[in-house]
Amino acid sequence: MRNIDEHTITAAVLARIASAPDARLREVLGALVTHLHDFAREVQLTEAEWKAGIDFLTATGQTCSAVRQEFILLSDTLGLSMLTVAMNHSKPSGATEATVFGPFHADDAPRVDQGADIAGDAPGMPLFVDARVQSLDGAPVPFAEVDVWQADDEGLYDLQRGELGTRRRARGVLQSDAQSRVRFRNLMPTPYPIPTDGPVDRMLVATGRHPWRPTHVHFMISADGHERLVTHLFRDPDPYLDSDVVFGVRSSLIGRFVEHAAGTTAPDGTRMTVPYATLEQTFVLAPAVSA
Ligand code: BEZ
Ligand code: FE
Repeated sequence: MRNIDEHTITAAVLARIASAPDARLREVLGALVTHLHDFAREVQLTEAEWKAGIDFLTATGQTCSAVRQEFILLSDTLGLSMLTVAMNHSKPSGATEATVFGPFHADDAPRVDQGADIAGDAPGMPLFVDARVQSLDGAPVPFAEVDVWQADDEGLYDLQRGELGTRRRARGVLQSDAQSRVRFRNLMPTPYPIPTDGPVDRMLVATGRHPWRPTHVHFMISADGHERLVTHLFRDPDPYLDSDVVFGVRSSLIGRFVEHAAGTTAPDGTRMTVPYATLEQTFVLAPAVSA
């Protein structure tokens, strides 16, 4: 096709990919081209704006490394990650809802026993977690793998603290017991900002947005016969519950964090000399989606 203009170019590009052998690729790329062209026509994109967009995406790529994924952060902050989670993990009523995975999971978290203190020497008020894992029909799910990770009360994950090297803390992998319970000691997290030294933060600043995530603890729960659950528990009150920078909050994921005074006895029987908190939660797993 010759004499292409702003109205005919979309059809020309679609025609060029029409014989791509992979039908799904044709569908996805075709829709992307169509929306991209419609977007450019809608805003009447100038060449300077096109160049600014290219420079922004280039900087985003250049900020990526083995330990930093700025493109996922861009997806998170534009709501695309949460949209994808919501579409692909719409749970049946009664099942615990899913939210974003985030960049701070570690595959080499320690496997720990029931009752373990996984905080290590991370700073923060002690937090005693007592969780249960059950199926949609209320049946207990024993021997589920419960992977938990969180920031400390300075808002940092162990992975962000170079001084720790490969030492892991405030994270661990447990197995639910025969009664489907998981108990461990950790610490009370706090809100924290996503990285503020890259192009995604420049986009947040330019659009008048803050970089904060509300207080949360991450959980990933796997059990035979059930869909893997990737979720968080949030704390209320929290200054960022209604403005999470990555749009991950769901009301159903607000956990029952309760603070207790020093001088009382913690769930593990320890007579506490400092204030501490407890968190009780039942996670309800959806059945596995059959192939
Ligand atoms: C997090 O929860 O750790 C997180 C999630 C998405 C983007 C950045 C951080
Ligand atoms: Fe997090």
